[in-house]
Amino acid sequence: MRVIGITSGTSFDAVEALLVDFEADGDLLSAQLVEHRSVTYPARVRDAIASVLPPATTTVEEVCKLDVAIGQAFASVAGELAEANGPVDIVCSHGQTVFHWVEGRAALGTLQLGEPAWIAERTGATVVSDVRNRDIAAGGQGAPLACLLDILLLGRHPAQRLGALNLGGIANVTVLGPDDDPVAFDTGPANALIDAAVSWVSGGHEAYDHGGALAASGHADPALVGRLLDEPYFSLPPPKSTGKELFNLEYVTSRLGPEHLAPADLVASVTAATGESVAAALAPFGLAELFVSGGGMRNPTLMAELRRHLPGVRFRTTEELGVPEAAKEALLFAVIGYFSACGLTASIPSCTGASHASVLGSLTPGLRRLRLPATACPPSRLAVGGNA
Ligand SMILES: Nc1ncnc2c1ncn2[C@@H]1O[C@H](COP(=O)(O)OP(=O)(O)OP(=O)(O)O)[C@@H](O)[C@H]1O
Ligand SMILES: [Mg+2]
Repeated sequence: MRVIGITSGTSFDAVEALLVDFEADGDLLSAQLVEHRSVTYPARVRDAIASVLPPATTTVEEVCKLDVAIGQAFASVAGELAEANGPVDIVCSHGQTVFHWVEGRAALGTLQLGEPAWIAERTGATVVSDVRNRDIAAGGQGAPLACLLDILLLGRHPAQRLGALNLGGIANVTVLGPDDDPVAFDTGPANALIDAAVSWVSGGHEAYDHGGALAASGHADPALVGRLLDEPYFSLPPPKSTGKELFNLEYVTSRLGPEHLAPADLVASVTAATGESVAAALAPFGLAELFVSGGGMRNPTLMAELRRHLPGVRFRTTEELGVPEAAKEALLFAVIGYFSACGLTASIPSCTGASHASVLGSLTPGLRRLRLPATACPPSRLAVGGNA
């Protein structure tokens, strides 16, 4: 089955699309990564997303227009990928999260934009979309869904606890122990606050701290780091999920003290607090190894903070498992598309907190007659190959 997984994360830096050729053999699912594309949004779409994200307010007219613009942007990326590589059976689109509705520890709703009809029309494939809401309706967080892929990729080590950490806008982890049920949760910000601070101090000229250089040139202010870590979310037990509704520019500016901080010192403080928050969430698990992915890997200052606070952990990357750092989320949605098309449940209740596992997503039929494969045996291992 040929599946495109397509998504844009909370940083909305790029639409990530991955074409995967799946083949099942018993409980082993083989995934050949055919081609990965990372395509930045047209500037007007990027600006429109920025203008609706919390704490901004918007109108249903803007939401409708943005839903179409994102759907068309995704359709264009998926369409070109399919044209270059031959037709696909399924496109699984995560869309663009614009609101993740959390109250206390409960996730009550989540909204991803990117109307799937445009993708079905352009590619002719059946589209799986809206992959989070079914898990929320089953009492779960709708996030992190990555634990499915982490479990398939890492399996269980007979004696050690392994972790997977994705440093996107938000940081999410999966913890896999030899005996206990998998656990997964959002630790809080990964790049969200760093990007917000950098964009603010640069007057909108810079979107992120390239190579962590600005943070490395400054000194973290311990008082500000303390205030940035003073947030009840960090001490909530899992399962839990969060987003830019909480971790945005206002989060940083509302914690600034009276003292004047140089831009480099502010970004150093935000980077230090971010690293400490992720490490503090992981420390109690006593991980032997941590497989890292996501754009935050390219910020050595953030990575140094993490390593400093997790001295006993061996840091590895998902690239060692054959998954390019920027393609992991797209691979996850390709896997979810495969599972949904086969009628297999893809949510993991111990990770999201749902009362049961669900087949995820809504289907938009493509141009060909909708024919789904017979229910397959649930895969328990994923072997990744290919050239993407
Ligand atoms: N060279 C770099 N130096 C420093 N930071 C970088 C670099 N490249 C990417 N980043 C950071 O990574 C972020 C993008 O990461 P990524 O695409 O994994 O996040 P995302 O789109 O929010 O995805 P998701 O939330 O779904 O995991 C950028 O916003 C930036 O903060
Ligand atoms: Mg991204």
